[in-house]
Amino acid sequence: MNYLITGGAGFIGSSLANHLAYNGHSVTVMDDFSMGKRENIESNRIRLIEADVRDLDTLETIFENEQFDYIFLFAAIASVADSVERPIETHNINFETILQTLELARRTQKTLKRVIFTSSAAVYGDEPTLPKREESVIRPLTPYAVDKFAAEKYTLLYNNLYNLPTSAVRFFNVYGLRQNPASVYSGVLSIISKQFIKLLNHEKAEFNMFGDGKQTRDFVFINDVINALLLIAESNESKGEVYNVGAGKYTSLNEIIEVFEEVADVKLPINYRQARDGDIKDSYADISKLASLGYKPKYTINEGIKEYFTELLSHP
Ligand code: UD1
Repeated sequence: MNYLITGGAGFIGSSLANHLAYNGHSVTVMDDFSMGKRENIESNRIRLIEADVRDLDTLETIFENEQFDYIFLFAAIASVADSVERPIETHNINFETILQTLELARRTQKTLKRVIFTSSAAVYGDEPTLPKREESVIRPLTPYAVDKFAAEKYTLLYNNLYNLPTSAVRFFNVYGLRQNPASVYSGVLSIISKQFIKLLNHEKAEFNMFGDGKQTRDFVFINDVINALLLIAESNESKGEVYNVGAGKYTSLNEIIEVFEEVADVKLPINYRQARDGDIKDSYADISKLASLGYKPKYTINEGIKEYFTELLSHP
């Protein structure tokens, strides 16, 4: 099959691209390396186009010259904090380029099986009812969440109005190899694991816990996420639909640290800090809609962290 993955050098996009290439598919990655990294692309069979998704000429050339079976849209300003700093740029990248891409696909792609847009649990905002169902109250509170929700809606509209086969996903807290721990707003598991690697290298390490550590999240391992994405892309029933992608379980940060301590066999010093402004206490997904397609997460949190940590140790 022929795949196009925008933002395919980022954490989730590159994991999918590597998996597909490894399984013999033809994969084109479009990325400008603003967030993604060249070294995330592990297969020399992946074609890399270095370009910004706002570069319409390049997008048009790609779409006019090739027919894809599957298109995955990951390219985005991925940090909510960045979106608050740069709302206009966020809107251009996270919303307008998606609409442009959908329109290009409608015009040029004749054999397309699916376009998948990647949205976020951020669309649910701080409305407290749990677990989150796809039909739960939507309360986007940041430019990031507003644009993700609007782009998600347009993606599904293209299925319903123009017969372009599309689906969308709302990621909960994905973790795994290649997640970049560089910022304080990076995924918390990448930040925690970096501290454990330091400890194992006999370097000084500590973790800033914002709040009491009792806050919970639905942490889902990247391998399960890839399975979910492929399942949705290949199912007929998922056309025009949006799916939560999580593990359907919640775990507190305190529990997460315990699992890491057990796996690494070392204690992590914790600095308790004030909870972050606007931080939600708990979040987890109802994954029954995804389960109805045959999805069942393969990794418990213990198994996922163990696998993640083992992979990290062998990818210095
Ligand atoms: C996720 C998004 C965030 C968005 C929010 C809204 C990611 C990585 N983050 O945040 O951008 O605003 O959904 O739905 O997808 N924490 C610490 N110490 C740290 C880092 C984090 O204690 O060094 C805490 C946070 O305060 C939070 C928890 O860990 O309570 C999880 O943080 P994070 O990984 O950023 O995920 P979300 O809060 O779910």
